[in-house]
Amino acid sequence: MSTTAPEAHRNDADRMTDPNWWRQAAVYQIYPRSFADSNGDGIGNLKGITAKVPYLKSLGVDAVWLSPFYPSALADGGYDVDDYRDVDPKIGTLEDFDEMAAALHEAGMKVIVDIVPNHSSDRHEWFKEALASPKGSPARDRYIFRDGLGENGELPPSDWESVFGGPTWERITEPDGTPGQWYFHIFAKEQPDFNWDNPEVREDFLKTLRFWSDRGVDGFRIDVAHGMTKNLEGTLPTRADLEARASEGDGFVDGSHPYWDRDEVHAIYAEWRKLFNEYNPPRTAVAEAWVHQTRRARYASPEGLGQAFNFDLLQADFDATQFHTIITKNLAEAAASGASSTWVFSNHDVVRHATRYGLPVAEPSSDAEIMAGQAGKKWLLEGGKQEDVDIELGLRRARAASLLMFALPGSAYLYQGEELGLQEVGNEITDAERQDPSFFRNKGKEIGRDGCRVPLPWTAEGPSFGFGDGPAHLPQPAWFADFAVDVQDGDESSTLELYRKALKLRRELQSGEELEWIPNADPQVLHFRRPNGWESVTNFGTDAVELPEGTVVVSSSALEDGKLPGATTAWLFG
Ligand code: NOJ
Repeated sequence: MSTTAPEAHRNDADRMTDPNWWRQAAVYQIYPRSFADSNGDGIGNLKGITAKVPYLKSLGVDAVWLSPFYPSALADGGYDVDDYRDVDPKIGTLEDFDEMAAALHEAGMKVIVDIVPNHSSDRHEWFKEALASPKGSPARDRYIFRDGLGENGELPPSDWESVFGGPTWERITEPDGTPGQWYFHIFAKEQPDFNWDNPEVREDFLKTLRFWSDRGVDGFRIDVAHGMTKNLEGTLPTRADLEARASEGDGFVDGSHPYWDRDEVHAIYAEWRKLFNEYNPPRTAVAEAWVHQTRRARYASPEGLGQAFNFDLLQADFDATQFHTIITKNLAEAAASGASSTWVFSNHDVVRHATRYGLPVAEPSSDAEIMAGQAGKKWLLEGGKQEDVDIELGLRRARAASLLMFALPGSAYLYQGEELGLQEVGNEITDAERQDPSFFRNKGKEIGRDGCRVPLPWTAEGPSFGFGDGPAHLPQPAWFADFAVDVQDGDESSTLELYRKALKLRRELQSGEELEWIPNADPQVLHFRRPNGWESVTNFGTDAVELPEGTVVVSSSALEDGKLPGATTAWLFG
């Protein structure tokens, strides 16, 4: 077997200097306050991450992406930023950041940070200044303030609903104490949207991108990349108007939605790209853009951010046809845009895939293409009952899906804890312990995203399973012990060891971005070949199937009499 891999980074030095390092990278997402707590205050911190660099190294990832660690009141888990160029004192200091970045670089891993440009927090200096300044002032112009409707401006400028539920407009009290204007927020009311027509806003983000790039950050994950630019002038359409338009034909694919995916946003990214390219190697970026598939390429283009998340697998069921369609479409799309594809099953916003795959398949929703995979969402709406989850099946499928993903060309984005096969925490978190604004703004209608943000179990014993010396900021159920790192470490059958083995092989084998489907008579089986004879076969069904000729190098579950059992992936060389 040949493992000649021109684009593989068999040594870390290659990765650190290669401008294309991101194209086939395995990127590990850290949710900082829930990863590792070095001082026992129950909140994960940067020093905790630095202490775990050897763990990340042994896992075999190429880069680490940190969700926001900036000063924040945590109205939205840190996506409400008070100051873009500092570290939250609850999480550490800028010196801690430098130490962490140096340790990751030293160990051959790249560092990606989250940039949140659509909105700041309501505690940001600029927003405080806006509230203290009069209507029409330059300070107000950095955000989106409008007069209300009705005789005394007592009605919001529109009846739109925010992403987390409740209205998109919040009324302020003017400095003289009278009821005043309204400001726009797509998310929580603690997250006022910036006015991206304001040159000061543009300048300030360039400064932020430079600040972190100069500190050695290698790339950026752009939060709500399809937000930012807006058209909120004049009489605004009603919510009913917007919903009617969205369900007609292709909805807003012409970029005419008042606040999502407008064409003007790309001028901002063109400017950012120039800045990224001033560095050597150029800084990278990946867009979080929940847009129609036909609109994604522009975000991912080399003149833009360079890469965009495709959340299609994350929304799909464990289903051969859905996987086949999604992979084929996304590889073609990435090739056309000049980017490489991205793959992701879990992140801090969705139900962990080990749980999702153990839930009954939800009915396809009428407005989705093939996205029947709303099982996780449905489970959250129904209260997240653990007894509804087939844990064994969910884990088995999650392992098979992840092994398949690691064989795909493009970047694989992993979310902390998935390498442990960790399950989502559901109704074991009480209402009083919940933190997610989507729970509060929906008045408890859905339980929200806290269940995937519960601090990691490092050891089977200890006050917070080795996360820290005291209780964790979100409660960890007793069953977390079974998933602890120290329980899995060295156990060949564990999910952790499967990930380590697969990521190590992937690093040796990745080369080129080609994928060739190999037809299989069984519609439940997906089989493909990568350059150098590397093959991946997944059985999405329940009965064991014959494997193709070849030597198996890793499988997500044990083979049965040389056959590939249901919900299993194997890699082999023919
Ligand atoms: C997307 C982030 O992933 C999510 O966690 C956050 O709540 C919203 N953007 C708002 O910033």
